[in-house]
Amino acid sequence: MRTMASVWFSVLVLVSAQQAFGNICSKDNSELHCNDCIRCGGYWCNEKGSPHCVSSLEDGWCPNDQEILPELEESSVPGKTVSPIYAQRSLYIMKPDRMDIEYFYKKELPLKIEIYNTTQTRNIVVKKYDTKCTATSCKATIEATPLQDFCTSSSSPEEFVHVTINVGHLEKVTLKYFIPCACECSSKNVVKNSLICNGNGDYSCSACQCNSKWTGEFCDVPICPKGRGDVQCTNPDFSYAECSGNGYCGPCETCICYTDRVGSQYFDQEEYCADICMISNQCEDCLLNSTAGECDSCVHTMIMQNYNETLKDSKDEFNRNIWVACNETVNDCHIDYYARRAADKSIYFMIERSCNDINSAPIVGTPKVSIILGVLGIIAAVAAIGGVMLWKHMNAIPPVPLNDPQYQNIDAEDCRGENPLYKPPTSSFKNPTYGKW
Ligand SMILES: *[C@@H]1O[C@H](CO)[C@@H](O)[C@H](O)[C@H]1NC(C)=O
Ligand SMILES: *[C@@H]1O[C@H](CO)[C@@H](O)[C@H](O)[C@H]1NC(C)=O
Ligand SMILES: *[C@@H]1O[C@H](CO)[C@@H](O)[C@H](O)[C@H]1NC(C)=O
Ligand SMILES: *[C@@H]1O[C@H](CO)[C@@H](O)[C@H](O)[C@H]1NC(C)=O
Repeated sequence: MRTMASVWFSVLVLVSAQQAFGNICSKDNSELHCNDCIRCGGYWCNEKGSPHCVSSLEDGWCPNDQEILPELEESSVPGKTVSPIYAQRSLYIMKPDRMDIEYFYKKELPLKIEIYNTTQTRNIVVKKYDTKCTATSCKATIEATPLQDFCTSSSSPEEFVHVTINVGHLEKVTLKYFIPCACECSSKNVVKNSLICNGNGDYSCSACQCNSKWTGEFCDVPICPKGRGDVQCTNPDFSYAECSGNGYCGPCETCICYTDRVGSQYFDQEEYCADICMISNQCEDCLLNSTAGECDSCVHTMIMQNYNETLKDSKDEFNRNIWVACNETVNDCHIDYYARRAADKSIYFMIERSCNDINSAPIVGTPKVSIILGVLGIIAAVAAIGGVMLWKHMNAIPPVPLNDPQYQNIDAEDCRGENPLYKPPTSSFKNPTYGKW
């Protein structure tokens, strides 16, 4: 069952990773700069107050100052045994272009496609999409797709790739692909960190191109509204310490908590993914106090109830343990206890073992939130998989860095621990169940 859940989780992760790092051309047009706009096959207007980038030409749009791309005339030259022997076409980033090549059929002809030269990178895929042959002739469909990073930062409006195709005849095919990589206006009148862009971006082609931390038409909207303050979660190498061993550094210097670990339903995103043991361990007085009921000597609401062996193994509707095993040592007094957090954030705990072992006081406070006990058997197992997925969906799983070794540890242990931030990792890295897929 765990394997199933992992597989499902991997699928989710892949899907969201693709969304996050997806192609620039799928972005909202208003977020594109002139270069990106025309690379993606859009149209650009330099007039103020107009929508700058549109994907199709509309009447009345940009009457005066449209960014004109160099004339790229499509043409083709037929040959005797192969047609065409020469063709030129315009391509746009991430947009597959297909064209047909017809040739006389000779048995077992190899079709060799070669990128002959390029004024940019070789990040372009040219491949045979399909071939159809009759007794005498063949028609091969060639598909070309410039990839997202085909253009470089110093690209010009007119870049090209020459491709040769050999179908086994003396005549060969030469294809010349034009790929617009930049607007003319991009190289003229660029104002670095312009005041129009609130000093947070460059002004060119009548629009702001914002620095990485800003967005909005005039780069006046911070992408990360609140900084993390004291410790910044920017170095993935320190994710483990900075996110309490329960998460990794995500965007905007925040911790993204793992969602697949024991007690992860209680990991606190706002508090460096501190787990419930870390939080309740701060309330030492309450852990030492053996009177059941609400403890009033801590900033957190801590409610003690009597230890109940059956209760501690209860599961929630997603088949997760409701109670998390914790321990703490206060003045040489070692305490083993179980904790859970209710919807109102108050923490319930029950002490399994303590040096001042007097747990006979009657239950004063009863749990306010009903506990949904898990059902056993196959039905429960099936439901749990569905449940885990639903729950992950609801929590909007962020893309997980698949190569992050910390993430490879799905088999996490209990969050027994003392000091939130400076504890060495308590989990082992031996079992990378995750990532094997
Ligand atoms: C690239 O190949 C084409 C076709 O053979 C040729 O005309 C052109 O001069 C070449 N360009 C460079 C930069 O080598
Ligand atoms: C223990 O908790 C009870 C209930 O909140 C409280 O009345 C009592 O003062 C506490 N005792 C100590 C030693 O903190
Ligand atoms: C322990 O918890 C179980 C499940 O909630 C309950 O049925 C049982 O009565 C409890 N036992 C004691 C001694 O309170
Ligand atoms: C208490 O928690 C620590 C940290 O997780 C763990 O290493 C240790 O084994 C625990 N002690 C006991 C007695 O469970």
